[in-house]
Amino acid sequence: MPALVLLGAQWGDEGKGKATDLLGGSVDYVVRYQGGNNAGHTVVVGDQKYALHLLPSGILSPGCTPVIGNGVVVDPAVLLSELSGLQERGVDTSKLLLSGNAHLITPYHTTVDKVTERFLGKRKIGTTGRGIGPTYADKINRVGIRVQDLFDESILRQKVEAALDFKNQMLVKLYNRRAIAADQVLEELLGYADELRGFVADTTLVLNDAIDEGKVVLFEGGQGTLLDVDHGTYPFVTSSNPTAGGACTGAGVGPTKISRVIGILKAYTTRVGAGPFPTELFDEDGEALRRIGGERGVTTGRDRRCGWFDAVIARYATRVNGLTDFFLTKLDVLTGWERIPVCVAYEIDGKRVEELPYNQTDFHHAKPVYEMLPGWSEDISKAKTFEELPKNAQRYVKALEEMSGAPISAIGVGPGRTETIEINSFL
Ligand code: GDP
Ligand code: IMO
Ligand code: MG
Repeated sequence: MPALVLLGAQWGDEGKGKATDLLGGSVDYVVRYQGGNNAGHTVVVGDQKYALHLLPSGILSPGCTPVIGNGVVVDPAVLLSELSGLQERGVDTSKLLLSGNAHLITPYHTTVDKVTERFLGKRKIGTTGRGIGPTYADKINRVGIRVQDLFDESILRQKVEAALDFKNQMLVKLYNRRAIAADQVLEELLGYADELRGFVADTTLVLNDAIDEGKVVLFEGGQGTLLDVDHGTYPFVTSSNPTAGGACTGAGVGPTKISRVIGILKAYTTRVGAGPFPTELFDEDGEALRRIGGERGVTTGRDRRCGWFDAVIARYATRVNGLTDFFLTKLDVLTGWERIPVCVAYEIDGKRVEELPYNQTDFHHAKPVYEMLPGWSEDISKAKTFEELPKNAQRYVKALEEMSGAPISAIGVGPGRTETIEINSFL
């Protein structure tokens, strides 16, 4: 089982950080393959809580080499501050490997992200404002700046000037903002070069060699399936591919090398930012899920929108990712409800629909069809085996498994590393 992908099966914040950290002790490499510091992954180890944005969650496991792949967009200031924050807490960060092909988020990307959102007004996406979309846009437009450019001042200057020629026209003429000086950007970027140089590596070579040698490599997705730019709720998505295929392009590893794809699935649903969300709750149940589940964004501090579990989405995630397993998280949050609604299908214009509609208007009109499952009131946070769960919690898990199309191989019953029920081994 040398290469596994672990990704979000919903709209992000499913508990990927915790799941990655749990496996981190048994894997040799943990690789981020897309996204950037729009991610917020919380990892709880004993009484210590870590919030990671850019670094792979494997960084907290001493034997594991964390890798930032070519598909990630890297804000160098954030990377260095995250590294020093961990070093201050005694975490060894020296093993980090950073792809020279990863694109850099520069100050003009974050500026463009923010002004574009402001310009969109009530049609805004609700981005994290971290410059993610504009950086990927420049990558695809072939005017991006890559990590390796930091080490060649004359190339860096040419590229920054070329990018700013266009951006400044847009900022000044369209958005009525001040132009950004190339010299200032250059000075800032060059200031990061020496600190980053030691981490830069040919990560595709390292990872392919590792897989060939039988080492265990875990690819950790940011965001989630429904935020994927191709397969998510476009345009209310992020600008990268969190889905399984993204691991191949974002790390330079062929699909034949991937042996297992694990979908992290929350026992209910949350979403941050704008966009359709069929099972969203606007009542006291939604408020209770938010409160009990601590559903507040790690990156932007925004309240997460909350709703019941949506099996249509879970089935879709199984399909577009080729999931082999699910890791069901936050089951403990549902303790105390007498009956728990689960969305098993949608009703769209009076018709029952079992699969996620590709048509965005249909999805906007989708009304959830609920099945009621009996709840439980016993504390489940100490359960170590499936059999220790109350019968109705077992039934809930089994029902979700049947509806979602892949086996549930682990269950989270609390935020801590050890608050997990392992059913099938991932390794
Ligand atoms: P990520 O972005 O997918 O890594 O998820 P986040 O870290 O943004 O959000 C998940 C939150 O749920 C974090 O605060 C985790 O500590 C917490 N968490 C993860 N798994 C569980 C679980 O099984 N039960 C509970 N109660 N909390 C969990
Ligand atoms: P993790 O890895 C939840 C959402 C934003 C917005 C949309 C686009 O913690 O699960 P962007 O800044 O990426 O251009 O914003 O995507 N979003 C996330 N929502 N969890 C995340 O990451 C997210 N990263 C981006 O709220 O709706
Ligand atoms: Mg998160």
